[in-house]
Amino acid sequence: MEENELGTVIAVGNQKGGVGKTTNCVHIAAALGQRGSRCLVMDLDPAAGATKHLGVPTKSYAGTLELLTTDEAIENLTIVDDMPPGVHLIPSRPQLGEIDVLLSKYLDRTRVLERPVAEARLRYDFVFLDTGPSAGFITTVAAYSTAEWFLLSAFPHPLSLGGLTEAFNDIADVRRHRNPALEILGVVFTNVDGRATRLRGQLETVVNQALPGRRFENTISQAVVLPEASGKGRTLFQFPRFQTIPVAQQYLRLSLELEHRVRNRGAFLAGVLEPTNYAILEQVGDSHIVEPVTMTANG
Ligand SMILES: Nc1ncnc2c1ncn2[C@@H]1O[C@H](COP(=O)(O)OP(=O)(O)OP(=O)(O)O)[C@@H](O)[C@H]1O
Ligand SMILES: [Mg+2]
Repeated sequence: MEENELGTVIAVGNQKGGVGKTTNCVHIAAALGQRGSRCLVMDLDPAAGATKHLGVPTKSYAGTLELLTTDEAIENLTIVDDMPPGVHLIPSRPQLGEIDVLLSKYLDRTRVLERPVAEARLRYDFVFLDTGPSAGFITTVAAYSTAEWFLLSAFPHPLSLGGLTEAFNDIADVRRHRNPALEILGVVFTNVDGRATRLRGQLETVVNQALPGRRFENTISQAVVLPEASGKGRTLFQFPRFQTIPVAQQYLRLSLELEHRVRNRGAFLAGVLEPTNYAILEQVGDSHIVEPVTMTANG
């Protein structure tokens, strides 16, 4: 990050529950961190998925609730120890669900993230806002109202079709009423079963028609190591034996594709972005040599 350059703010969302938002959020941040970026994950979900995934007990720490209801500086609420390299976390806990009663009734709820996000952009290259599955919840609305980019996470399931259309409409609404600068950074298909090619083709067509050029070419395979790692409170990049498996490589490639879009915003939004050059990943180090990505049922 160059001097005076501000970090990029990405809301990770989808009003549907359990579609890989949190897994993508922490792994994309960890992959970027692995490649040298400074990333902050703000957990904006009272269910505290990102907090748990990063191994932080949800009862012990002040976090996003204090960030949004007090003047506390972000560095006093940020967890930096035992995190994936390059990643810091502002944790959540269930009490975040009661934020409504703690905020002044005179405050514009859609703007509660402006101050903390402005602070975070001075210190981090990427700020990820992990939102919960409720589109109407204060922190979700605030995240969509404050971010510059929206990253949509989806499982390739027949029911995703309706969910995706709903999400596109939601984003159009945010742009119309709140945040005209919000742009869709991309749709990540994850939990991809290598056998369900027809369904995947249908979903890809839906995205290509609604949002030409916005689908990420890198998808994430269905891989049991992801829920396993999550259960252990770690990302794949924190286990030496998992760093080279295909799904970790997929996240590294996805992080590069994402960074390429962010760094070349104008060209990307104009639809004239050059293809991502993945050769750079071969220079990251021995453990990150990228092999052609194969889709297997168990990544
Ligand atoms: N590629 C994958 N392969 C296998 N399982 C996955 C994959 N991605 C996510 N999962 C699992 O699917 C479940 C839901 O994922 P995750 O918690 O990331 O979704 P979410 O959208 O954040 O959910 P919520 O809406 O509840 O916050 C988790 O158990 C997670 O480990
Ligand atoms: Mg989640």
